[in-house]
Amino acid sequence: MNFYKEELTNFINARPRSEELWKRSVKQIPGGVSHNIRNLGLPSIGAFPVFIKTGQDAYLIDIDNFKYIDYWQGHYSMLLGHNHPAVQQTIKEKLEEGWHFGTVTEDQVKLAETLTNDNPSLEEVRFSSSGTESTMYATRLARAYTGKSLIAKAKMGWHGYADTLLYNVKAPFLGKEGRGILPDDQAGIMTFEVNDKTTKDLIQENAHDLAAVIIEPVLGGGGGFPVSLEFLKMIRELTEKLDILLIFDEIITGYRFSYGLFQNQLKVLPDMTTMGKIVGGGLSIGVVGGKREIMEQANPELNNRVWTGGGTFSAHPLSMAAGLKTLEILKKSNLEYNRTNNAGTKFLTEMNKFFTNERLNFIATGYKSFITIHALSKYVENPSPYNIVHLTDKKREALLQLALLNRYISGMHGIGAFSFVHTAQHIRQTQDTLEEIASPISKTIF
Ligand SMILES: Cc1ncc(COP(=O)(O)O)c(C=O)c1O
Repeated sequence: MNFYKEELTNFINARPRSEELWKRSVKQIPGGVSHNIRNLGLPSIGAFPVFIKTGQDAYLIDIDNFKYIDYWQGHYSMLLGHNHPAVQQTIKEKLEEGWHFGTVTEDQVKLAETLTNDNPSLEEVRFSSSGTESTMYATRLARAYTGKSLIAKAKMGWHGYADTLLYNVKAPFLGKEGRGILPDDQAGIMTFEVNDKTTKDLIQENAHDLAAVIIEPVLGGGGGFPVSLEFLKMIRELTEKLDILLIFDEIITGYRFSYGLFQNQLKVLPDMTTMGKIVGGGLSIGVVGGKREIMEQANPELNNRVWTGGGTFSAHPLSMAAGLKTLEILKKSNLEYNRTNNAGTKFLTEMNKFFTNERLNFIATGYKSFITIHALSKYVENPSPYNIVHLTDKKREALLQLALLNRYISGMHGIGAFSFVHTAQHIRQTQDTLEEIASPISKTIF
């Protein structure tokens, strides 16, 4: 039996309960998932995702009772690991008091104060329920503030599911991602290439219409590609000069590499920032923040206000409390940040050295603790981000996730992220596993 067939048979035979639930799932939920990536591409190779019942520290346990080292960590939101005792205690205490009132609460003020105190570019913030909403509101506020209508986003930039920014995320970059949304020229969206000299001219040429440039300092869902500091500085200077707002989407990078937004380390401060994930402590959250003048347009007392809110569950009391407790812990976690960042950098370097030495169809990208592993259709030396996304081999990527699951490692986009709960031993085990499976996966012909 070849590697792929053997992995598939082992996977399916060992997981009857996940298989049964998956069969029920796909009958009721399109594709069986409520976020596209949660199927890990596994149906394309005849498999299915595992159904998780519990999480503790670095581990997840599925309904067939397999225990996995988890690097997906709740879409990167669980930097402290699963079920952190202090965060859990806080949520429990809040639960005792009732959990949704649809009113203002003290924790909302405290979390807003924490975010604005920690980050010089934030004078005011507004909470919503998801990152998707926060990027949607950020661009709306920018259009209102500048009176211009065009938004520029990075190719491969991922800002969530709203109609607003769902353009040129994935190769082959056909403009809008999928059906059901307006073509980019009708939607007021243009896209640019990061770390590319032509972008400067493109922004200059469109300055008259451009309300904002939105960019993640490390392109996340689009592939885990860091944007160079030089490029970010260039965009900052240019946008300032041309009266275009700069929005950093820090939904992944915020509080991931150190306490506070990544922009503080970069010393490049945008006009507006979107946040999510870690700052909600693993519960639903989106935050848009920035200069007071821009944010005040959201003030409901204004006749010509910009509608900016989060709906029924915005600033949910449990999210506010979990976020506050998480930030309180992170503030005292310099050592853990350093250890996790260094472990990520070492892992990225060593894995790429291995893939290159063995001439395998893999490359690891990312920054510090944020790690993506791409499986490609062929071996390429030193591929550019564009080579990588064009050569991505979806079935090979799915086989990677499957083979990792068979070896009790749960990742997404290859790996995902290192968190404070990942020990040197977890990481060693993961590296050894990748070194064992990368070659047979590379050689697999589907
Ligand atoms: C950079 C970035 N922006 C926006 C979003 C959307 O956030 P959410 O999934 O909370 O809607 C994500 C989510 O992965 C993200 O990584």
